[in-house]
Amino acid sequence: MENTTLLFNDEIEKIIDAMDLSQEAPVEEPQRQYWFMKKARQLVKEQSEKLGRPLTANITTFGCQMNARDSEKLVGILERMGYVEVSDENADFVIYNTCTVRENANLRVYGRLGYLHSLKKKNPHMMIGLCGCMMQEPQVVEKLKKSYSFVNLIFGTHNIYKFAELVVSSLLSNRMIIDIWKDTDKIVEDLPVERKYPFKSGVNIMFGCNNFCSYCIVPYVRGRERSRNPKDIIREIERLVKDGVVEVMLLGQNVNSYGKNLEEPMTFAQLLTEIEKIEGLKRIRFMTSHPKDLSDELIEVMKNSKKICKHLHLPLQSGSSDILQKMNRRYDKEKYLNLVEKIRTAIPDISLTTDIIVGFPGETEEDFLETVDVVKKVRYDSAFTFIYSKRTGTPAAVMENQIPEDVVKDRFNRLLETVQTIGREMSARDTGKVMEVLVEEQNSQDKHLMTGRLSNNLLVHFEGDTSLIGQLCQVRLDECRGFYYMGTKVG
Ligand code: 5AD
Ligand code: SF4
Repeated sequence: MENTTLLFNDEIEKIIDAMDLSQEAPVEEPQRQYWFMKKARQLVKEQSEKLGRPLTANITTFGCQMNARDSEKLVGILERMGYVEVSDENADFVIYNTCTVRENANLRVYGRLGYLHSLKKKNPHMMIGLCGCMMQEPQVVEKLKKSYSFVNLIFGTHNIYKFAELVVSSLLSNRMIIDIWKDTDKIVEDLPVERKYPFKSGVNIMFGCNNFCSYCIVPYVRGRERSRNPKDIIREIERLVKDGVVEVMLLGQNVNSYGKNLEEPMTFAQLLTEIEKIEGLKRIRFMTSHPKDLSDELIEVMKNSKKICKHLHLPLQSGSSDILQKMNRRYDKEKYLNLVEKIRTAIPDISLTTDIIVGFPGETEEDFLETVDVVKKVRYDSAFTFIYSKRTGTPAAVMENQIPEDVVKDRFNRLLETVQTIGREMSARDTGKVMEVLVEEQNSQDKHLMTGRLSNNLLVHFEGDTSLIGQLCQVRLDECRGFYYMGTKVG
């Protein structure tokens, strides 16, 4: 890992060091986990002394930004336990942080487990851990127990804070350890985190989802909505800023319902206003907004903000009011278009992106054309388009009129064509302007080029060197090539 949340992890290190292993593990969290981190450190040290080398660990993350953030937490804990992170799966401890939003995510995990089995045959000490959304599905765990008995540790989305404790159980046992919770109301703060980027970070503001869109498995695997205390969020961001972070991405399945279940309720817009005040923080992004409860207050805050990026991801899912109703989205075509109109009037230069599902049960050609119509009216900068995937246990899975594959594929291709043509035109609209980019990394294909991100989330490649990474630079956007720019640094 490239960077540490120095202050944060330093403080945690001290507390871990002070833990007394001759006493029983504390009951309180996170102290209990600190105790297990120290215990694991001892076990890892014994093994690595025997082997004459450090123990290595590797995490593969599937799915969304929530999972990416969870993986950073897992790496933070792994490193406190004495593992060294490596970039390939030839490691002593391999972890898959899984996604189950669509069926093919699951299939990829099973496929790769076959490969891991062959590695493990060569290195029998190898420990394999599986976690994330897919593990919250009982039929997945049954299948793993039956056909993938070489897996050492299985845990879910609600108890990743217990990772150190579970690793200790695994290191001390030859059996498969399984710990899955159906739901939780608990949020454990102050666990170590190892960030992937020194200058930007995801920050969870809430967990779970209460919306139950009829196609979606997320509410079943991520549980009910829980908002983090605003004080904890602010404190975390302040620390991140002290440690070099200039951009945060606030994460939640539906950020617009932030704060509803807090003891002292607070809106997402109010939270943003507080975050805006943090000195040294330059950019604020968030993900994901549900159109049904995007408030006027939020539009106003975005409009007046100096830090909130000019980008809004506003999942449409379908442009047909009939399908939207069957999806349980609680808005219709007209309401969505009115919302977009309101946003564009307030913030004309905002870039809008979306998620669209094609082939939801019962979708007719007319329904599909309504979706294309919305795409043409809204003119998204880009859109993630998905083929509907049947998720067992969701209401849509048992709906009549599942759409044949060839029909869906044809619609999908037509939609993609429309989305891409418009996306290219929209992306190019700032050609010739000088804009601010946050420099993220060296271009992997051409070492003379650096890659930065515009406020509207588009990438820009321009000549520069690695000393610029993490800095905000003014870049002239010379040429748009589809979905990115080639530019020149000015000043
Ligand atoms: N099939 C296809 N796409 C889905 N999504 C969620 N569930 C499904 C499903 N069953 C998409 C939605 C959501 C995005 C994260 O994934 O578009 O916004
Ligand atoms: Fe799934 Fe809908 Fe919740 Fe998004 S808002 S996670 S699509 S149920």
